[in-house]
Amino acid sequence: MSQVTVLVGAQWGDEGKGKVIDILTENVQYVVRYQGGNNAGHTVVIDDNKYILHLIPSGILHAKKICVIGNGVVVDPKALIEEIDFLKEKGIDVDGRLKVSDKAHVIMPYHRKLDALRELKKNGRIGTTKRGIGPCYSDKASRSGIRMGDFFDAGYFRSILEENVEEKNALFKDFYGETGFSADDIFNEYMKYFERLKQYVCDTVSLLDKAYRRGESILCEGAQGTFLDVDHGTYPYVTSSNPTAGGACIGAGIGPSRIGRVLGVVKAYTTRVGEGPFPTEFRSELKDKIREKGGEFGATTGRPRRCGWFDAVLVKNSVDINGIDSVVITKLDVLDEQDVIKICVAYKYKGDLYDCIPGLPGFLDNCEPVYEDHPGWLKDTSAITSYSDLPPNGKKYLTRIKELIGSDIMLVSVGKNRKQTFACKNA
Ligand code: IMP
Repeated sequence: MSQVTVLVGAQWGDEGKGKVIDILTENVQYVVRYQGGNNAGHTVVIDDNKYILHLIPSGILHAKKICVIGNGVVVDPKALIEEIDFLKEKGIDVDGRLKVSDKAHVIMPYHRKLDALRELKKNGRIGTTKRGIGPCYSDKASRSGIRMGDFFDAGYFRSILEENVEEKNALFKDFYGETGFSADDIFNEYMKYFERLKQYVCDTVSLLDKAYRRGESILCEGAQGTFLDVDHGTYPYVTSSNPTAGGACIGAGIGPSRIGRVLGVVKAYTTRVGEGPFPTEFRSELKDKIREKGGEFGATTGRPRRCGWFDAVLVKNSVDINGIDSVVITKLDVLDEQDVIKICVAYKYKGDLYDCIPGLPGFLDNCEPVYEDHPGWLKDTSAITSYSDLPPNGKKYLTRIKELIGSDIMLVSVGKNRKQTFACKNA
């Protein structure tokens, strides 16, 4: 294992990163979240216990691992405290192992309200999680945001809070016809949160640099997925951060020359939550069948996920954008009952074939997926523990995916539990 590994979702998120991170964590000392906020939901099942984590890296479930919420993450302090309390109730030791960047931006009540109001107003809704993610990143970019470290100076926090509340209240009142917020109330509420959280807040860039120089290994975990990236995703139907591998350098403060390996997590089919184009989306009764079998309901909002065939154009582009060295294929078992399995190998648009995703308005909405048909394996794979036991058509499916996306397959997952995973050197 490289000293610094970045793990990304290669599709639209929900690829099953939580389980993979959990497995890889065995071999690292530090696990770092580098972007997003509590819009994410990483599900980990250990001995029939299910943990859904939104902000804290799932590495926290392993004793002694240090878990870092990097500067690129947006932190909702109330949600973070709830998650800490949930873990403590489960008997998990958090204090001393959780570190939160003093440069991470803070989600404020007006961010959540703005997110919800924008969703109501917009004609082409994004279908956000309404956690205030977009408005918080907007304030970060417009240099009016509040950072975790700002709470150490209550006077400074109060002054930027007042400026923000004044500006946002005018927007709520004049544009949305809504009531605004009291700076006093927010100040008191957030200073209480800070009292709880201050023990975790530190300079995580220097913490990680020291760990790197000591030769310790670091796993950077991306939330969401490549095509929800604000730069490389299906804009504007994206989140407001950079889940791609490059985002790890910025959001964890680890320079590119220190990243040794990039792993992609890829579902054996495709899903997406929220609005936006999805060329291979099922139009038939398959959409309910796969959703049920795959348990495709959002870990954060409970929303049903949209489901579709494996899109090799999408994943090949993801391999390129992220510089993925190898992938983990998840949820192969969900396809066990399909007699024919389709893979999208190109997009047809206005008579031309494409193996890329140009930024033309409406391209992905109007392109036609070009499919290859593959015979299914029609056997239960959920108890398989070795690649050699996979039915021949299962092996052929993986081999074809490998060829099309141009990346090795490192592991295959056939169920929620850690043990339902096997290595895949030969595909
Ligand atoms: P936001 O991140 O809440 O602003 O939502 C923007 C888009 O990203 C919406 O389509 C959400 O459904 C999607 N999204 C955000 N977080 C996740 C996630 O963890 N998994 C899948 N989709 C997500």
